[in-house]
Order: sequence, then structure tokens, then C-alpha cells
Amino acid sequence: MNSNHPIGIFDSGVGGLSVLQRIRADLPHETLLYVADSGHAPYGDKSAPFITQRAAAITRFLLEQGAKAIVVACNTATAAAIANLRRQFSIPIIGIEPAVKPAIAMTRSGVIGILATGQTVYSAKFADLINRHRQQTQVLAQPCPGLADCVEHGDLNGPRPTALLNRYLQPLISQKADILVLGCTHYPFLKPLIERLVDPEIIIIDPSAAVSRQLHRRLDELRLLANSKAPGGEHYFTSGCTEYTARVISRLLDRTVTLEPLPLTSPLH
Ligand code: DGL
Repeated sequence: MNSNHPIGIFDSGVGGLSVLQRIRADLPHETLLYVADSGHAPYGDKSAPFITQRAAAITRFLLEQGAKAIVVACNTATAAAIANLRRQFSIPIIGIEPAVKPAIAMTRSGVIGILATGQTVYSAKFADLINRHRQQTQVLAQPCPGLADCVEHGDLNGPRPTALLNRYLQPLISQKADILVLGCTHYPFLKPLIERLVDPEIIIIDPSAAVSRQLHRRLDELRLLANSKAPGGEHYFTSGCTEYTARVISRLLDRTVTLEPLPLTSPLH
């Protein structure tokens, strides 16, 4: 494997760009490939077998493009599919999961709130994560149907995300959660709106920095960090409508981005 090969990153849609932005800031010389599976988003209401098939098909595509490592920039796909990906493929595969451990370390009220998709909240991997770290802390896991979809359509502060967030935050706030974990990679794009809706004392945690650090560590261990001094390029693919997704991505990243169609067929489900 050549260290100047690209890093493949994927999500159900545009949410994983919150992780890509962090990786870009930390690893400026790496070439990044990003797949937004927007034709199948949201994953939050799909079955685990469907997500597992999509994750494997996208990983295969990224490997065909020469990826030296894969970042599953999606909590839902990590919970449903990462074990299977690691069995199937031999390159480093980095996942993302809700930052429960740092939240438990930081809480003063003894109550933390986790915003995530239903698929993540009801997964065995999430139950295991909570059981490993909970101690005396009360962990409130809030499924947020519809929220990732707002970001998927570039709606970061309209009436729909505001109403959904008011509904999902209310039980966490009323039970005195003082830490909110963003357990879905779409939600960091809603952070300014969440900050407007909650007490400024409440700490909001986005785990993408930890993912980027872990990627850096793994590439370093395997001597796979890019040795070029030139700024790394980026290539974007989507299974959704290329023009529409390009408009949303350009808005989220605040620069013009073009996309190529993802040459994959949908698995049956
Ligand atoms: N961005 C994804 C996550 O981190 C999933 C959103 C969705 O497709 O439901 O969980």
C-alpha cells in the first residue's frame, strides 16, 4: 500500500463532512475521497442488514479507487456494520461512536444526554458502550428521527429543525443533562441552532476530533501518512442527485464542490 494513496470516507449523506472537515484540518497533505450515500439516506430508519450491505459496497468502491484506509463517518453505519467491514477488508477501518466516555468524565449534574439516530440508540454496540462506561451517571439516549434529513436538505435553522430539536432536547434539559453528545455526524451542522436553544452552560460534544486523532495514529503506526508536502485533493461521490447534493455540500463547506455519481446499484432490502 502506497502512503500517498487516498483516505476513503463515507456517510449516509452529507453528515460525514463534519468529520471530513476535521480530518482536512489535521491532515492537510492527504487526498480524501468522500462518498455521500444520499440516494439511501437516512440510514437511521433502515434495517441493519441494509446498512451493512451499503457499507460493504461503498467500501469496495473506495478500495477500487485506491483507498489506504476507510473512515466510517457515520455512527449508524459504525454501529450496524463496522464489525462486518473489519472481517471483510484488511485495511484500517476507523469508525465513530457517541462520545459517552468523555461526557461521563465531564458531567457535574451526573446526567448526560445523547442525540443520535434510532438505529444507533437501539443497537447492541451502543448498549455495550453505555454498560462499559456508565458508572453512576444517568445516560439519556434520545433518538432524533427527521433531524439528519433537515441537514441532508441544507436546512440548518428553519422551523423544522427548530421544532424537532425543541422536542428532542426538552426531556434531556428537564432531567438536568449538562452535557449533550452529538451522536450523529449530521448534527454538528446544527450546533449553532442547538446552542441557541439551550442554556450556555451546557457543553456540546462532537466526537470528530477523536476520530481524526485515531486515523492519524493508525496511519502513523502503519507508516501510511502521506509524505507529499502539497495540499491534498478531495473527490466527492454521491448515490443521490449530483447537482442537488453538490449544492448542499457547497453550502455546508462554504465553497464550491463538484460531485461524481457513485457507480453502484442499490442492494435489495
Ligand atoms: N450521519 C449518520 C450518523 O452519524 C446517520 C444519519 C442518517 O442517515 O440517519 O449516524
